[in-house]
Amino acid sequence: MDFAAQFEDYRQRVERGLNELLPAAHTRPTRLHEAMRYSLQAGGKRLRPVLTLATAEAFGAAPEIALPAAVAIECIHTYSLIHDDLPCMDNDDLRRGRPTAHRQFDEATALLAGDALLTYAFQLIGGHYAGNAKLCATLTREIADAAGSEKLIGGQMEDLLAEKNASATADDLEFIHLNKTAAMLTVSLIAGGLCGNANPTQLAALRSAGRQLGLAFQIIDDILDATADTVTLGKTAGKDARADKTTYVKLHGLENSRRFASEQSAAAIASLRTLPGNPSFLIALVEDMARRTH
Ligand code: IPE
Ligand code: IPE
Ligand code: MG
Ligand code: MG
Ligand code: MG
Repeated sequence: MDFAAQFEDYRQRVERGLNELLPAAHTRPTRLHEAMRYSLQAGGKRLRPVLTLATAEAFGAAPEIALPAAVAIECIHTYSLIHDDLPCMDNDDLRRGRPTAHRQFDEATALLAGDALLTYAFQLIGGHYAGNAKLCATLTREIADAAGSEKLIGGQMEDLLAEKNASATADDLEFIHLNKTAAMLTVSLIAGGLCGNANPTQLAALRSAGRQLGLAFQIIDDILDATADTVTLGKTAGKDARADKTTYVKLHGLENSRRFASEQSAAAIASLRTLPGNPSFLIALVEDMARRTH
């Protein structure tokens, strides 16, 4: 199978997993469950859950083992997008080519749908991995750590503090990128590795790859915000400059941003090459993300 066909195969498994593992839209309160599914099923590249499935398979795990972890991670990612778009944060009207959750529903429903997706992620982990106590505990700890106050949420906090802040430094920006973005990409790889019984050396290689892919990914997000159009992105273009965000493009310029993103992508590929088995799909995925247009 070529890369595109293999990606599509993983993506369809993720879509089916999301559909089957989330509460049905008609579950009471229907407005809340509709809002959760509205944001989750609006599309999205599904990079994080595909990373989890592909990493688990590279380590020889049966495909179905990693699916609940992959779905849980996409739930947390989607919650972070719903809250990121709220008027009190980035105040965005468009996400994944559709009105944002608070536009389609209302702010309170969007807030609650985000809360519910975050909580549901851990219900999925607790429910599906209960038969393997060690895996269940490690997945819970790793995913909670990545999504918590020192990583995803901490990165979002500093992202907001760095808005309109002319004294934000390159170090501040690295903290923001590593935590708001790289942490969830890293745990997507780690969750796959844990499902496939990766050893500590292999987990360390996955952590390096996640850090490097995460930096590349957020720098490219900053570049696309400054250079792409709203229809292609499926989210409002040019909003970082309007909000005076501290981004890679603002601090280092477009040319340096492109160079640093390709250096980080190359470093991620070098980290993945140290893995046993066949990491060729993961490597092609990093290359594909480096060329992405949305
Ligand atoms: C957007 O993530 C938020 C960032 C961390 C840059 P993605 O670009 O993966 O968004 P979707 O999931 O494809 O919509
Ligand atoms: C988002 O960063 C990081 C998240 C954890 C959601 P951005 O604010 O740049 O993401 P987009 O551009 O709105 O997707
Ligand atoms: Mg933001
Ligand atoms: Mg945003
Ligand atoms: Mg952005």
